[in-house]
Amino acid sequence: MTVRIAPSILSADFARLADAVAVVEAAGADLLHMDVMDGHFVPNITIGVPVVAALRRVAKVPLDVHLMISEPDRYLDAFVSAGAAMLTVHIEVLPHLHRTLSRIRELGAQAGVALNPSTPVESIREVAHLADHVLVMSVNPGFGGQSFIPHSVAKVAAMRDLLAGAGSRAAIEVDGGVDGSNAAALVGAGASILVAGASIFGDADPAAALGRLRRAAGGAR
Ligand code: DX5
Ligand code: ZN
Repeated sequence: MTVRIAPSILSADFARLADAVAVVEAAGADLLHMDVMDGHFVPNITIGVPVVAALRRVAKVPLDVHLMISEPDRYLDAFVSAGAAMLTVHIEVLPHLHRTLSRIRELGAQAGVALNPSTPVESIREVAHLADHVLVMSVNPGFGGQSFIPHSVAKVAAMRDLLAGAGSRAAIEVDGGVDGSNAAALVGAGASILVAGASIFGDADPAAALGRLRRAAGGAR
């Protein structure tokens, strides 16, 4: 299985985002993960549409936009127009997830559904065929640099089984505390997109850190 590495710019220097993007792209990043937080669904406030649009102008790899906001339906068009190639919404805030995922695809982006650590894998069964990717949160969303929740490996495996049973080919993305110590287990359980913030941008040499993570994940590139 090809593993894609998605550095999360949340842990990059916000005063030098374009430089951070260039460094991880040169090191072989497959995607750029961008965390949008509203101070309501999660306790933190980060970035919005203008920053996605700005990075679209400088990034070469697809933008993987993770919406941690209470009312994502209001902003789907804006984020896709700004350049999100992948748009991920949280199931916990969406009573009409079928409609939301369909809408993201209609807009021309890849549709993703994210699950908090306490949200059971079964909750996405009825919409599995509408998701291009499923994001398993391996920390409680809101902040970079948190510790990986070990049970997430078993959850990824359960998700892989659920998706297979549903005939879905959705990729499994894991987000939160991903580093060289858990990457191989996550890939072994079925993850094919690894998001990493602190373990890449928290390192003095982000390019080397990305290389180490890729090797740990078992994928030469
Ligand atoms: C957390 C965000 C993550 C975060 C991951 O709420 O969704 O994308 O940036 O950062 P690390 O890898 O530092 O846990
Ligand atoms: Zn994220």
